[in-house]
Amino acid sequence: MNEFAKEYYKQLNSWSMTTNLGKFYSKVSRKLVKYHDILKDIFTCGTSLEKYVNSIDRSISTGSESTEYLALEEMFKDVEINDNSRFVDIGCGKGRVLNFVHTKNKNCKVTGVEFNPEVANFTKKWADKKDNVTIINGNAFDINCDDYDILYFNRPFMEETFKQFAEKMVNEIKHPVTVICYADAYMSKYLKGKPNWNRVKQGILYKKGIIIHCFYPQVYSIVKFEPNK
Ligand SMILES: C[S@@+](CC[C@H](N)C(=O)[O-])C[C@H]1O[C@@H](n2cnc3c(N)ncnc32)[C@H](O)[C@@H]1O
Repeated sequence: MNEFAKEYYKQLNSWSMTTNLGKFYSKVSRKLVKYHDILKDIFTCGTSLEKYVNSIDRSISTGSESTEYLALEEMFKDVEINDNSRFVDIGCGKGRVLNFVHTKNKNCKVTGVEFNPEVANFTKKWADKKDNVTIINGNAFDINCDDYDILYFNRPFMEETFKQFAEKMVNEIKHPVTVICYADAYMSKYLKGKPNWNRVKQGILYKKGIIIHCFYPQVYSIVKFEPNK
């Protein structure tokens, strides 16, 4: 077992995952994180982006669940968002990630694509008030991936659908891009075995200091694609 897997299992077997007191502590901590995130949503885009919405087709996609701000802070530590960056969240849900990236750099072009129309319409309402934030109410398979430099995936698809999307990226993208995978149970594992893909970072998100923010340890990965390298 490699060091990363050892650390993952260590966190999976930690007291907050395995004892009743630990589980209670985790529940309270996650509730507080949730309230913090809701307040941050309201202060920065005028509405809460927290509510879970069921998938409209579980066989191909997941439900709408927002990434926590603490997880975003960690994942974006080494990802440069500059004035010329073109960011897309594949399956943006209510748009928490778009709000986070827009807050980091208001000149960066931020796009979210969401195929649950009810969710996309909700997101459009707050996003339309911001410059440089665009919501596409539709299927991520209909975008041109070459229009973006940073692509974010919080497990929008089931595994087979993700593989089809990976083929689409390879066929369309003609310049170097960064791909961020959250809740990465199979995404970067699939990509890193392919030519021109390179996983540059992998980490575990569960807690920061004494604050537990995930239900269980979640893997994230940063993957670079450099076509014709
Ligand atoms: C787990 S949520 C992630 C939400 C957001 N990216 C975040 O991290 O805060 C995944 C979202 O992907 C959307 N989705 C799944 N398949 C999609 C597709 N083919 N095109 C566009 N959106 C899709 C789902 O409707 C859901 O809202």
